[in-house]
Amino acid sequence: MTILGIETSCDETAAAVVEDGTQLLSNIVVSQIDIHKEFGGVVPEVAARSHIEVIIPVIEKALKDAGKSWEEIDAIAVTKGPGLIGSLLIGTLTARTLAIAKQKPLYGVHHVLGHVYANWLVEPQPTFPVLALIVSGGHSQLVLFKEHFKYTLIGQTRDDAVGEAFDKVAKVLGLPYPGGPSVGRAAQDGDPNKYDLPEAKLDGPYEFSFSGLKTALLRTAQREIGESYDFPSSKVAAKLEPQQVVDLAASFEEAATATLVRKTKLAYEEFQPATVVIAGGVAASPYLRNKLSEALPVEINYAPRELCTDNAAMIASLAYFQSKHQPADDPYKLETQPSLPIERYT
Ligand code: KG4
Ligand code: ZN
Repeated sequence: MTILGIETSCDETAAAVVEDGTQLLSNIVVSQIDIHKEFGGVVPEVAARSHIEVIIPVIEKALKDAGKSWEEIDAIAVTKGPGLIGSLLIGTLTARTLAIAKQKPLYGVHHVLGHVYANWLVEPQPTFPVLALIVSGGHSQLVLFKEHFKYTLIGQTRDDAVGEAFDKVAKVLGLPYPGGPSVGRAAQDGDPNKYDLPEAKLDGPYEFSFSGLKTALLRTAQREIGESYDFPSSKVAAKLEPQQVVDLAASFEEAATATLVRKTKLAYEEFQPATVVIAGGVAASPYLRNKLSEALPVEINYAPRELCTDNAAMIASLAYFQSKHQPADDPYKLETQPSLPIERYT
């Protein structure tokens, strides 16, 4: 079954062709990072307008690279949520129109679940039960999959997602958007033990919280430059020495990673999954990958980084497995769902 996937939930316009959920035939991603960089984050209206401009050429290129004509496409998959409503609408309306015009079944899929399915695009595929650590700009979750579409959310963040915390910390340190890769790069030259940033104390063993850590980083930076806690965060970076920036980046990366690794290890010990996977943009972090591999007794088969950040291949992969469990969606009715929790997925 050959599926064309379309993904526009945030600031990447993406299309991909995947065979049977596992064989990647093409993967096109047009990133808007350069457009949003000057604002230090994604501007929703600008994102939606950029999606409109490139979505059709992106789809055409995905088909061309895969060497597939429309006749050879068996279904269309699109992200229906969660995400920015304006951005989601461009993808879903394009997919609905194409499904009607080309007479193809349409599958609206869950973006966050899609991230997990990037792991089905690498050999060997995960074996159930699968423990997934999902770490993106909007989510930080531990999910245990008994099998496809049978999963339990075992823990999630109480406040900020870890990627969001990386992005905010980058702003404080004067590092470019997106924060994950830029903090990671700066951290390579820094001392991860220079500043002791506290780990949040939470009731549930699998709950996360990154808001306190982000504030602790800001307070430490304010102290380092000899300013009080009401000194504006937007002015901190200008007063930091380069060595302080890299040490703060490294200490933050270490503290955020340590929490993720510790809780994943705890969940591994309790639930004894056959496979552990990581998913979402932060899963591209080499530091997180190294620390997780060191901590767990199982081998982790990491997806290439371009399949961790937003892409449409993961959407096409998930749609293949979804097609075995659920009927196709009505192309005249498929709605976007900007807030679509994983525990209430329908
Ligand atoms: O999954 P994703 O592309 O979009 C969402 O669904 O949110 O994740 C984006 C997040 C951003 O917060 C970005 O800073 C982070 O992933 N990220 C990384 C890396 N690449 C992207 N974080 C750490 N290390 C990376 N190499
Ligand atoms: Zn994502």
